[in-house]
Amino acid sequence: MASSFSLIFLCCFLCIVSSSLAKTSSRPKALVLQVTKDAKTLQYVTQVSQRTPLIPVKLTLDLGGEYMWVNCERGYKSSTYRPARCGSAPCQLLNSTTCFTNNTCSHNPYSSISKGATSGHLGADVFAIRSSNGKNALRVVTIPRLYFICGTSLLAEGLASGVTGMAGLGWTRASLPAQLSSYFKFDRKFALCLSSSTKSSGVVLFGNGPYTLLPNVDVLSSLTEGNGGTTISTADPYTLLESSLYKDVIQAFVKAMPKNVKRVSNIAPFGACFSSKNIGSTRLGPAVPSIDLVLQNKSVYWRIFGANSMVEVKKNVLCLAFVEYQTQLEPKSSIVIGGHQLEDNLLQFDFSTSRLGFSSSLLGRSTTCANFNFTSLS
Ligand SMILES: *[C@@H]1O[C@H](CO)[C@@H](O)[C@H](O)[C@H]1NC(C)=O
Ligand SMILES: *[C@@H]1O[C@H](CO)[C@@H](O)[C@H](O)[C@H]1NC(C)=O
Ligand SMILES: *[C@@H]1O[C@H](CO)[C@@H](O)[C@H](O)[C@H]1NC(C)=O
Ligand SMILES: *[C@@H]1O[C@H](CO)[C@@H](O)[C@H](O)[C@H]1NC(C)=O
Repeated sequence: MASSFSLIFLCCFLCIVSSSLAKTSSRPKALVLQVTKDAKTLQYVTQVSQRTPLIPVKLTLDLGGEYMWVNCERGYKSSTYRPARCGSAPCQLLNSTTCFTNNTCSHNPYSSISKGATSGHLGADVFAIRSSNGKNALRVVTIPRLYFICGTSLLAEGLASGVTGMAGLGWTRASLPAQLSSYFKFDRKFALCLSSSTKSSGVVLFGNGPYTLLPNVDVLSSLTEGNGGTTISTADPYTLLESSLYKDVIQAFVKAMPKNVKRVSNIAPFGACFSSKNIGSTRLGPAVPSIDLVLQNKSVYWRIFGANSMVEVKKNVLCLAFVEYQTQLEPKSSIVIGGHQLEDNLLQFDFSTSRLGFSSSLLGRSTTCANFNFTSLS
């Protein structure tokens, strides 16, 4: 099961929702979600509105998720919920060939947090989200039928407090960005900007730019584009490196560190920790050697500075925020870029061209992902 967003995954789209727009006169060009980092689980959590009557539903973001799923075992009440009939177009979209009771197609949802799958079925309900002009939030817009998987409490294990499902942002025809762009007929793109702080919010913007952060910084203007086989995951708090690669990275990093910086005992799950005593601080975080992640050729790389490469594990101890993993236990690509490395970087995923645009650290441009102005204009 793909638990992360693989950029080499190419897929064409089908419209899930074919119903015409009710109010074409003011069709939104972009939609916006506020994202907060949960301090306990390090999950990135957003809130949408769903059902009739509309209620707020908290979901953990999952960049690799193929669809949105919600725990329907805990008091799902809605007068507009419609199960998807076996063999119908939405079921085909999920390759769901098995039939549940009452002629509802079943699909076993997967959680990249609990790393498990349980039984579930496909249905649709009213979904509401704020529109945006890329600079402010605008009015709430409604989709009469957004398809999602009804899952179980078992699947919801490990999710942050108050969260009842996951918002799949992956490269499929059933994911949240796919359904939103298909319904509102905007470009099949979205941008993700995660805040490093648990006290301020980052943002997901569906649709085309501009993406403007306070104080009026257009972050779209300087995106570098790549399409390498990199995997990016919001379900992993730190970047995962396959064992042999991990050893090489640690070795090179330790070697590049100034000699007066003292290495201290490792603190799991990290493999290189340092006393912060002789590490200076800069606008881009702790003054440590930068790490370049080469994405497709030597001229397209993602430069990772201290704010994204180091984590303060305890007072006066900074660890390199990369984690080793065994590919044989959990096969993935050799590098999975995790949440900590994404924070305060703007990433734009373009489904139509299979390209990733990335800004590098916004700290260097005197803004952060917490600087989207969520003040609503209407
Ligand atoms: C459904 O199957 C098609 C063809 O095998 C595949 O391309 C697509 O990714 C599958 N969709 C999902 C959601 O698994
Ligand atoms: C199937 O439909 C019947 C009648 O509408 C309903 O009472 C029952 O709860 C449904 N079963 C499931 C598993 O949804
Ligand atoms: C590297 O990739 C970029 C972006 O696709 C491209 O413009 C450039 O020509 C490539 N450079 C080389 C040396 O292949
Ligand atoms: C956020 O946007 C609102 C509405 O345009 C504006 O009044 C307010 O000054 C903005 N906030 C900041 C900090 O600029």
